Amino acid sequence: MPAVVINRYPGRIPEKALERATGRLLRACGATHKELGVLITGDEEIARINKRWLGRKGPTNVISFSQEETTLLGDIVISADTAKREASDALTGLSQRLTELLIHGLVHLLGEDHETGPEGAERMQKREQELRILLNKENTMADLCINVDHIATIRQARGGDEPDPVAAAAIVELAGADGVVVHLREDRRHIQDRDVRLIRETAKTRLTLEMAATDEMIAIAAGIKPDIVTLVPEKRQELTTEGGLDVAGLEQSIGNAVSRLNDSGIPVSLFVDPEEDQIKASRRVGAQCIEIHTGRYAEAKNAEVEEDEFEQIVKMASLATDLGLRVHAGHGLNYRNTGRLAAISEIVEFSIGHAIIARAAFTGLDQAVREMLKIVKGI
Ligand code: PXP
Repeated sequence: MPAVVINRYPGRIPEKALERATGRLLRACGATHKELGVLITGDEEIARINKRWLGRKGPTNVISFSQEETTLLGDIVISADTAKREASDALTGLSQRLTELLIHGLVHLLGEDHETGPEGAERMQKREQELRILLNKENTMADLCINVDHIATIRQARGGDEPDPVAAAAIVELAGADGVVVHLREDRRHIQDRDVRLIRETAKTRLTLEMAATDEMIAIAAGIKPDIVTLVPEKRQELTTEGGLDVAGLEQSIGNAVSRLNDSGIPVSLFVDPEEDQIKASRRVGAQCIEIHTGRYAEAKNAEVEEDEFEQIVKMASLATDLGLRVHAGHGLNYRNTGRLAAISEIVEFSIGHAIIARAAFTGLDQAVREMLKIVKGI
């Protein structure tokens, strides 16, 4: 265990995100063979440590203790109380400030010291900046999984066998997609059972099966064994999935579906609106993952509403990560609105269909996938 993060702070802090950032920073410094201890505490404890070990009075934001031992890089103590005061915004700002303090402490452990004079200060600032960039770069590398339902929609329009979503799955993989998504609907309006079976057999990346939490679908999933199931609400009259699952209102039945799928060895993601009660309920029912329904953000009628919806997604992605859930996002995302979301480090996977298939009609599927990959990966 190269990085150990101990949280002794009584308030809410983005602990999981900090753990991940610590691991990534060690990788970015090429120091994965070294051990690093990070203690998150409050002003009272950091003031005691400051007095006892450095002979200084009062609290501070971060203290580093380097170790002479070869396997131990050292320890970093951070006061979340001070970080909170220093952060400009209560939730997203705190996460960012804690990461900055972590980087500052780490750069000290790597031998830099701003207190040695202007040259030392400049070197330290430069090193911190490099690590911030490296961390952000890694943060933006979410996975892109592509929903090929609409290739099947075109096929079903004539009731024949072209175009084939199985071929589409192979093309999106060759273009660099990280996974393939299909929604097997109860009414089989686009994807057919045969499509799911064949994609399962031929996909080289990951297969996500979207489905309703019904007995029929749970039995199909148990037989096909996709890499993950995303449970979605399903109405026969809807054009596409409208709104997220009401996990909070249906805890028992969704919890039951999650357990049955998990018992078959299939991890489960729940497609939910970015609402606190839905995310907390997703954790309670034992899901491994949530997919944030981005429809309200994507369909915002003006910039103000889009901004509010964006902020809500940032907050809910952070909450879900703190609760130990992996965060995916999807619905209504296109070449204009995905970039902002791709910069949210907590979102580790995007599920996008319609915009890519629509563009493919003009540019070809390969190019449409590559263009979206650039946006999602930030490259
Ligand atoms: N995620 C889920 C759970 C969905 O139901 C859909 C639509 O099928 C998508 C993502 C993809 O949405 P879009 O086709 O708008 O990109």
